[in-house]
Amino acid sequence: MNKRLLDISWEDYSALSLSEKLPYLCQRNGLPFHTLFAQQFDGQLIDRLANLANAIRGISKTRTGTLFLRDLVCHKRAMLYFSQPSSRTFLSFLSACQLLGVQIGEVRDTATSSEFKGESKEDSVRTFSSYFDLIIMRSREKGLAERMAWVFSNAVRQVPIINAGSGKDQHPTQALLDIYTLLRSFDRSGGLRDRTVSFVGDLARGRTVRSLSRLLTNYPNISQIFVAPSQLQIGQDILDDLKEKGVSYSLTDDLRLAVSKSDAVYMTRIQDEWDNKQGESQEIDTSRFVFGTEELKLLKPTGVILHPLPRRNEIDVAVDADPRAMYWRQMRNGMWIRAALIAETFGCGKRIFDYYSHNL
Ligand code: NCD
Repeated sequence: MNKRLLDISWEDYSALSLSEKLPYLCQRNGLPFHTLFAQQFDGQLIDRLANLANAIRGISKTRTGTLFLRDLVCHKRAMLYFSQPSSRTFLSFLSACQLLGVQIGEVRDTATSSEFKGESKEDSVRTFSSYFDLIIMRSREKGLAERMAWVFSNAVRQVPIINAGSGKDQHPTQALLDIYTLLRSFDRSGGLRDRTVSFVGDLARGRTVRSLSRLLTNYPNISQIFVAPSQLQIGQDILDDLKEKGVSYSLTDDLRLAVSKSDAVYMTRIQDEWDNKQGESQEIDTSRFVFGTEELKLLKPTGVILHPLPRRNEIDVAVDADPRAMYWRQMRNGMWIRAALIAETFGCGKRIFDYYSHNL
């Protein structure tokens, strides 16, 4: 049974270290319960989810397989609560739910919910939990998904929460789809080990980078290079985590040098929605952090280019046609791995594996 937090105040809970928090919130009977942080996934769980995503992908190719999947959790309902803009994350979660037959409700604009009348986010989310069996949420607020998970742990009806992006802090399911893409990309050339991954762009405020950097520490001998103008470099908390895990990393503003050393280049856009004053990011010279055809020439033949999207101008469209440009496939991978995560959360992963091994 999962531990309950009945006697722990939010303040006391917040003071716990992450490894102390995980058993309270993130696992139940050996399965993922709330999905809140990248750090809750170890290599074994990621590999299981990736295999499950491959199985779902294979099964859904036929009508019979699609009907099997759609029947699995048709008795469950999910709320997509996205109070921040989203295209890919929202649509891939929606499609993932549809693949598994999960019914969906959505709130994308709090102006249309009772939050507009002054209801607290806690009460809103608790309301969703009365009607739904899963809450997938994106918010501008760092730690909101975690706080809601804590609120639920004291409630009679507890439903899992999946963090679909929390402020500038974390985006664990994006990191899962990024890893899934890397695993597939390197499947035939030795796997995800002994590689160099470069992160480029707004690393200070890009939550996808912060989650992926942590997730990569589950794989052996992956060096990380952080390529950004000094104002947008990666946070010290991430570097401290890497240091603690003995992961080798470096910081630079030389994109071409980083590309020539890399097996994977993870591009990101400038996150100017977080600017303290309007136009602040425009004062930073980001012109040297653009991946174009010159950079393509420096990339290894087995190298790959990833981007969580949306892009602005940080990847030249001329790069799109190159087979090493993985970002469109990466986007579709999001649907499969999110379906795998939802299936595991609802405890039907084993049935999918069984069907796959008997029928495909
Ligand atoms: C990212 C996000 O929302 O953090 N997008 C996504 O989920 N695919 C990256 C971004 O918005 O730049």
